[in-house]
Amino acid sequence: MNTSYLKKKINVDTMLAEVRVFAPATVANMICGFDILGFALEEPGDEVVMRKTNKSGVVITKITGDDGRLPLDTNQNTVSACVQFLLQHLDLQDQVGVEIELHKHMPIGSGLGSSAASTVAGLYAINKMLGDPLSKDELLPFCVEGERLACGHGHADNVAPSLFGGITLIRGNDPLDLIPLPVPQELIAAVVFPQVDVPTRDARQLIKEKILLKDAVIQWGNIAGLVAGLFKEDYDLIARSMKDVLIEPTRAILIPQFYEMKQIALENGALSFGISGSGPSVVAFTRDRDKAKQIVDKIQAHLGLADIESFGYVSGVNIQGPKVLN
Ligand code: HSE
Repeated sequence: MNTSYLKKKINVDTMLAEVRVFAPATVANMICGFDILGFALEEPGDEVVMRKTNKSGVVITKITGDDGRLPLDTNQNTVSACVQFLLQHLDLQDQVGVEIELHKHMPIGSGLGSSAASTVAGLYAINKMLGDPLSKDELLPFCVEGERLACGHGHADNVAPSLFGGITLIRGNDPLDLIPLPVPQELIAAVVFPQVDVPTRDARQLIKEKILLKDAVIQWGNIAGLVAGLFKEDYDLIARSMKDVLIEPTRAILIPQFYEMKQIALENGALSFGISGSGPSVVAFTRDRDKAKQIVDKIQAHLGLADIESFGYVSGVNIQGPKVLN
């Protein structure tokens, strides 16, 4: 990682004593754009409380909402490891000490960018405490490193929308080339998380490495159609384009009742329906909050009959990204 741009004068004496930061969950892929499109949700999201300590180093003191699944070890926990990594790149590791509380408000392994939201909250918090020396563009590569640590692959389609808010296109990864896309006013997401665990690492290993040219042509037509639909605020074009012929047929196998949920959503007026990120969460898009709520309720009722517990969320696009709560 080239970090020459980080050679900044940072006065650690003026460092804040404490910050509490919220960073939003995200829906990566936006159905057709595997690894290149994503948007931020209004809710849920994760919170990080960071406090200055007298001793240098980064420690995690508390994690809530994870059922004991996340490591407290500084090097293994994605949030602390990324904060430490950033301090090393800023050459501050011997001068700065922080303790971190992580409060998870969303399920892990859900396809809602859980690790990304935590990483973004942690990096946004340390940057805030140091007086915002880095721009969001400069923070992004560190967030991507967090994804690499969390699931073995450094895709940016969760961390970028969580950090910048809105809808983002990752045009390229090397170097990172991020393009914010317009957010249509009425776009509402109905999200359901069926409570089964699908780790991103596993869901990525399942995907075929080779694809047919005829399928690729359909998919890039859809991606281009979606981007054009967002610019034109053309909901019919958005609906026609949010289809995935490459990844969904493989990953749907990991999601119980996937095709039944799809039928419910489309029969109840969804513009489109698909997998959120690597699943098992699913997402339906609508132009109407009430309709989105109805879709969530009907899908959850259906899952209930199949003895599958679930969480549901209705959310517009979060434009802001992370925010300081205190
Ligand atoms: N684009 C990634 C994937 C998102 O689909 O594997 C993972 O959250």
